[in-house]
Amino acid sequence: MNLAEKSTAELQRLDSNHYLHPFTDPKALLKKGARVISSADGIYIWDSDGEKILDAMAGLWCVNVGYGREVLSRIAYEQSKELPYYNSFFKTTTPPAIALAEKLVEVTPDGFNQVFYTNSGSEANDTVIRTVRRYWRLLEKPEKRIIISRKRAYHGSTVAAASLCGDSIYHEMDGLPIPDIVHIDCPYWYGEGGDLTPDEFGLKSAQSLESKIKELGPEKVAAFIGEPIQGAGGLIVPPDTYWPEIQRICEKYGILLISDEVICGFGRTGNWFGCETYGFLPDLMPIAKGLSSGYMPIGGVMIHDRIAEVLIKKGGEFSHGYTYSGHPVACAVALGNLKIIEEEQLVEKVAKETGPYLKKRWQEFENHPLVGEVRTVGMLGAIELVEDKDKRKFFDSSMKVGDTCRDFCVENNLVMRALHDAMVVSPPLTITVEQIDEMFDLVKLCLDLTADKFGIS
Ligand SMILES: Cc1ncc(COP(=O)(O)O)c(C=O)c1O
Repeated sequence: MNLAEKSTAELQRLDSNHYLHPFTDPKALLKKGARVISSADGIYIWDSDGEKILDAMAGLWCVNVGYGREVLSRIAYEQSKELPYYNSFFKTTTPPAIALAEKLVEVTPDGFNQVFYTNSGSEANDTVIRTVRRYWRLLEKPEKRIIISRKRAYHGSTVAAASLCGDSIYHEMDGLPIPDIVHIDCPYWYGEGGDLTPDEFGLKSAQSLESKIKELGPEKVAAFIGEPIQGAGGLIVPPDTYWPEIQRICEKYGILLISDEVICGFGRTGNWFGCETYGFLPDLMPIAKGLSSGYMPIGGVMIHDRIAEVLIKKGGEFSHGYTYSGHPVACAVALGNLKIIEEEQLVEKVAKETGPYLKKRWQEFENHPLVGEVRTVGMLGAIELVEDKDKRKFFDSSMKVGDTCRDFCVENNLVMRALHDAMVVSPPLTITVEQIDEMFDLVKLCLDLTADKFGIS
């Protein structure tokens, strides 16, 4: 069957016949078929009707080097000809897995000299949970098991990673969260800061970790996990006081600190890693997405020396791993992707040129009647939609204002995400200032249409 020759309607019919999509209501999909994306280049994707769409989300926050990189396709081809698969179980390895590990050690902060490979961010977070608990067991503190996460967190969709997520929609499956995972508030100043300044609120929010540790007993708490900037929870940008205080508290009570770098890693925030943007040094860093820019499924966990030393010296066999851990084709492509990020100086470009430009343009939205707050860091931007900006009054969630704005984006060939009522962009790091202007104009159009629809002026 040559799918390229099928009409969009036919593709949609086949799609809904046989394909149960992730994060999708199948009934809604039956009513209105899926948009079929058939090609891509740079920051644009094309659908099966030939419509050109500006992908302001870089897929799912992942296509950091942009679409259409022939060099990565060539690397995949060459590597699969040479060695399409071999594993790293039972004392074997492959050259691409070795080379990528060496590169990861080079680009991550000092003290990260070990990687454990996975296929995704969710698997990376499952690996984190097992690694943390193993670490404390090896140190003869098996009672240290509890992992503290946050409300609005997103850490993935496997049973353990979903347990770390901070929203009940992820826990509806019976029995989640799994035991020994608890959640505290997140540093969402605009929504929850009240009369406090951002810095005061950042400290208060971090100190809720200290209260929780004292309540549970430090001897039972294994680790704290957080995304440097919370992505899927609505692009929650922490006040500057937040992360240093979290680090202080973790050190004081002997709690491991995990920075989930699945979104923030590989240049997204204007540094190689989000923890560098916020000035803290974690013990473990789950990574994925920008590691290969989505050209191949691959993730991993970077492990700091102080943890690795215990795992290696006291360890023995770690009964954990995936058939495709360190997959040679995925590793070769990820290495090629990191070379592009380096050679094109994409991290510096975001820090010095396009990040500041995005910030400047996004600040213009502050005058829009529908906009309560804009937040940008590096190549991440959020626009918080509110009913009354003077009173910081949010829309009732039943009004689905964010979803309505998102629908206008779809109609106008823009991919922008609605997370609660925050409209979020996370485009490829290759986006130019001219393309940021183009994205700005489309976003403005969709905000205006949404304001008109809800009678906000
Ligand atoms: C911060 C964070 N961690 C983990 C994940 C899970 O990654 P994956 O979808 O590759 O399993 C995501 C996915 O969006 C994420 O945003």
